[in-house]
Amino acid sequence: MSIQEVENLGYYDFMGYIGIPFFNIGGQVSMDRLAEMCHIGAGTRVLDVGCGTGGNACYLAERYGCTVVGVDIAERMVLEATRRAQRRGLTDRVSFKIGDAYRLHFPDASFDVVVTVFVSQFLDPARAFPEFGRVLVDGGRLGVNEMYRAEGVPPEAKGQVNASEKAFCELTKLPFTLRSPEIWSQAFKASGFTDVTLEEHPNANESPYSEGVIEAFSGWGKLAGALWKVLIYSLRSGKMRKKFAALSGAKKTLLRNKETSKYIGYVLCAGAKPGQETERLTT
Ligand SMILES: C[S@@+](CC[C@H](N)C(=O)[O-])C[C@H]1O[C@@H](n2cnc3c(N)ncnc32)[C@H](O)[C@@H]1O
Repeated sequence: MSIQEVENLGYYDFMGYIGIPFFNIGGQVSMDRLAEMCHIGAGTRVLDVGCGTGGNACYLAERYGCTVVGVDIAERMVLEATRRAQRRGLTDRVSFKIGDAYRLHFPDASFDVVVTVFVSQFLDPARAFPEFGRVLVDGGRLGVNEMYRAEGVPPEAKGQVNASEKAFCELTKLPFTLRSPEIWSQAFKASGFTDVTLEEHPNANESPYSEGVIEAFSGWGKLAGALWKVLIYSLRSGKMRKKFAALSGAKKTLLRNKETSKYIGYVLCAGAKPGQETERLTT
């Protein structure tokens, strides 16, 4: 690809192109807890919306014996995710497709569980959650792992948090929104989900990005390749340099700066589509 073509890629296609995956702040511990909250077990049909490079989908299938379909709006994410499932020998149970959270190409009641991990924070839940509900069976569960901001952030920290939020909106061209835990739980209820449970995990109690980094990159070689591309594109393109600087500044405020990151964390929230939960979901 020419430097101009790379510069013009959307944020997530660009991340997929250079091979940078995403990490849950809570790592596999949060995936395991979300799986528990959603009653994922052997045979559960899971839809992972905004699957990124497929790390979570592969993890769930390996750990719980469920089947997973991942959809993502960014083509390069889907390519990377498909390669990951192939490498891990999971193609009989894990597949990936290009797809938009707001218009899922699946018939009604196709899945037992829908999950989003660091995705619904880029969506309008009032539009996306009813669509997730449509593809769920009666009694099926929606579970999300998304960032939150605490209520009552003091003015100095609030300015910096707002600036980071804005930086992510500009980078991704998506409406990135740090909602409070209360607003996340309301979003479930407003879309008709019942039995809503929410857990709040402040950054302070976790060590962000500590788990599975090498696996997320699919090995040391890919990690080295991604770092090399970041270096090369930073040197060759001012536009890219600006993007990397904005990304690193926003991440620092939300995850590492002691004065601001203490107001940020992730919620695990799950709710049920009304109706009888089938045996498939509980075995
Ligand atoms: C922060 S990444 C998280 C990826 C993955 N869930 C993970 O935890 O590794 C957000 C992902 O959401 C995808 N995304 C954003 N808007 C979407 C939409 N409307 N429909 C489907 N995917 C979307 C992006 O392309 C990106 O891959």
